[in-house]
Amino acid sequence: MKALILSGGKGTRLRPLTYTGAKQLVPVANKPILWYGIEAIVAAGIKSIGIIISPETGTEVREITGSGERFGAEITYILQESPAGLAHAVKVARPFLGNDPFLMYLGDNLIEKDLTPFLSNFQAKNLDALILLRSVSNPRAFGVAEVDKNGKVLQLVEKPQVPPSNLALIGIYFFSSAIQKAIDSIKPSPRGELEITDAIAALIYQSKSVEAKKLDGWWLDTGKKDDLLEANRIILDTHLEEKIEGEVDSESQVIGRVKIGKGTKLVNCTIRGPVVIGNNCYIENCFIGPYTSIADKVTLEGGDFEHSVVLEGAKLIGIEQRIVDSVIGRRAQLTVASRLPKALRFMIGDDSQIELGGG
Ligand code: TTP
Repeated sequence: MKALILSGGKGTRLRPLTYTGAKQLVPVANKPILWYGIEAIVAAGIKSIGIIISPETGTEVREITGSGERFGAEITYILQESPAGLAHAVKVARPFLGNDPFLMYLGDNLIEKDLTPFLSNFQAKNLDALILLRSVSNPRAFGVAEVDKNGKVLQLVEKPQVPPSNLALIGIYFFSSAIQKAIDSIKPSPRGELEITDAIAALIYQSKSVEAKKLDGWWLDTGKKDDLLEANRIILDTHLEEKIEGEVDSESQVIGRVKIGKGTKLVNCTIRGPVVIGNNCYIENCFIGPYTSIADKVTLEGGDFEHSVVLEGAKLIGIEQRIVDSVIGRRAQLTVASRLPKALRFMIGDDSQIELGGG
């Protein structure tokens, strides 16, 4: 059994962060999203992992994630020249996959539950495909499955006008090598991609064994800002271990579950967990409220933050208004004008979103 993680793609929904980096490397609770998927796969006993990368972000994904040693896995990187669809990615991975069955995992997904029972089910029943589903309130936005009472998949439809159920495909699939032939039988969709739903539909058409299971617990597709903040909230709530390695001066107060990295200095701050702060940060005269993740080398002076993610090297100085529900990109700077006239002066990247508080 192998695993294939898809970490290519365009990442348009998470712009501007994805102009300069892979969305799968955006940190949740200071750890790249992609790593949670790798850990879940290794925890299910799969050690041979292929990661699909794109020409734009592949080098960074490879450098940060490495050979797999830190996860107890062996990682093979597979370049997909263009984001031509999920089924296209499987096709590109053929030399790595051979005839082995595999677990396919979308690199920006986060799940709560263990994958082991699904893997056991797939193997015990010798299936050609096992797809994971969950009930959603807006099935029109997803690939939707119609399933009989025994879990057999009868039909799959991509973004249906009239959904046959509210069961959406999430980005986790188990396949036998039969999927490769099915992929060879499909054509690109109207949006120009080789769709994995079409390939699974082809398996059903060929009377192969395609079953579905519902995934309980939380599932998040971190490809959008609000989902990213929600993932950050959940992971801080459930996975954060308390550990203070940095320097906290006597004027500062640290309340609740808080992790502070090496070389970080806190001066006259109140930190109310769950909060994670990375290494080599300098934080002075700040209140940092629950569900905030601050990456390495961040400087914060005189501010009030909550439910936010601040990425590496950002600098926020002297902002009087509270900052909430925010994602601040790498090396971004937010400061108060020191010269007259007192006015707002911006250098904002393409597709940035800024909401200035009124009154
Ligand atoms: P999506 O999030 O559906 O697509 P995207 O990354 O292009 O993002 P957006 O919609 O914001 O533009 O892709 C799901 C996952 O699969 C994601 O981790 C990227 C990856 N992917 C590939 O590796 N190759 C591909 O050809 C596609 C379409 C996606």
